[in-house]
Amino acid sequence: MVDSSPLVLGIAGFGTVGSGLVRILTENRAEILARTGRDIVIKTILVRDLAKKRAQALPEGAFLTANPDDLLLDPDIHVVVELIGGVDKPRELIARALRAGKHVVTANKALLAESGNELFALAREKGLHLGYEASVCGGVPVVQTLRESLAGNRLDGLMGILNGTSNYILSEMSTRGLDFDVALKSAQELGYAEADPTLDIEGFDAAHKLALLIRLAWGVDYPYAKLPVRGITGVCREDIAFAREFGYRIKLVAHARLVGGSPAEGGGIEAEVCPTLVHRTFLMARVGGAYNAVRLEGNAVGSIFLHGKGAGDLPTGSAVASDVLAIARKAAVNNTGFALPHLPVPARIIPQSESRSRYYIRMKVTDKPGVLRDIAGIMADNDISIAQVIQKDLANGNAAQGDAPHVPFIVMTHEATAQGVHKALRTLSASPLLHEPPVHYRVMDKKKP
Ligand code: NAP
Ligand code: HSE
Repeated sequence: MVDSSPLVLGIAGFGTVGSGLVRILTENRAEILARTGRDIVIKTILVRDLAKKRAQALPEGAFLTANPDDLLLDPDIHVVVELIGGVDKPRELIARALRAGKHVVTANKALLAESGNELFALAREKGLHLGYEASVCGGVPVVQTLRESLAGNRLDGLMGILNGTSNYILSEMSTRGLDFDVALKSAQELGYAEADPTLDIEGFDAAHKLALLIRLAWGVDYPYAKLPVRGITGVCREDIAFAREFGYRIKLVAHARLVGGSPAEGGGIEAEVCPTLVHRTFLMARVGGAYNAVRLEGNAVGSIFLHGKGAGDLPTGSAVASDVLAIARKAAVNNTGFALPHLPVPARIIPQSESRSRYYIRMKVTDKPGVLRDIAGIMADNDISIAQVIQKDLANGNAAQGDAPHVPFIVMTHEATAQGVHKALRTLSASPLLHEPPVHYRVMDKKKP
């Protein structure tokens, strides 16, 4: 029999995403009713500060509270939507909601990356939904795609731009010449950044999301804290400009791929979050502003590319709403996409040092005979083959009178191991050949996911 009774929500958080969700459920009420046959009613909204001015009017009949028990102990509430952020408070809130028999929807990737195992196990034990479409790539439906649409594939790899704030900052620096700090402030004002923006700019938010995607793709646990992560704080306008000369854009890329077969066959997972040079002809290079994108490689479907708004009130609210609607429709519970009766097995982690890539390396060298020969020698000693170089013949003020000038020297390598590159850079840094520590970034290779 079709259930036409209202689905009652308690929403924890009335900030950027909470306001977006309320607006969507209010403005799209007729569409939602047509799709699910049920009204979605917001009964209670939990906030910290009851006196704060809100961006969105309170829905009719709803009340604001600062007491979590008003959501958790209310038998009328079927679904608790967690949009407060952080880790400890929402972990407790979600666990209590599940224990009270309420479905949960959250946008909280930090929490699920850190405590997903216990919360998914609890939801499974209780037979309840724990929806998290909004936790990866905002409005882009990548969770649903991996969990449902590509379920008949073996995923070979995935890569993506998973953090809107970083992508916005790099785009603004690249296209409008903005300073890093100015672009970050603007991202915060637009509601893209986390409450602690270090998570965005140091790559940790992208790492949280990558850990969730790895779990969805392969059903294994790659602890977030073990992911190699490098953020964008070191990316300067000079590197953006040199990369451009080679035909590349610098993007914060998260990637993961199978090495040696599927986890069931003993295969491992190579994964990393790092600033990466992406050739301007690749779709990934054209992902601008706060947009996100993910490329998924399935052994049956081939390559698919998802692209859309990765942050902000309405895009993220749209993803939250999709989970709420699945609950309203009484969709079968399928939180992780895997029928594991136990916690996911640990991923076999392929050390980052073993990964192979092309590299961009920028050095500041003395423009005198023999220097380039010595640099090339150190690279050759570490099995690094040079593909292209740029040396800028700049008039230089920082060399002492009569000394040879210090000039930027940029190398693009052929594929090399991370270990070889790090060793060569350590040797170069310790030598008198360089005037400042070298800068290096991976270069995205078209052939590999
Ligand atoms: P936000 O704008 O800072 O809003 C947080 C809301 O939660 C505020 O209404 C705040 O109350 C409330 N809150 C915080 N701590 C609370 C506590 N201890 N008890 C009760 N209420 C509390 O955050 P947001 O940007 O909406 O992000 C919310 C979640 O969505 C985070 O997990 C974030 O990672 C995730 N997310 C955000 C985006 C985005 O684009 N912003 C995208 C995807 C996922 P007051 O208003 O009274 O301070
Ligand atoms: N701070 C996050 C970002 C929000 O910039 O991508 C979306 O998860």
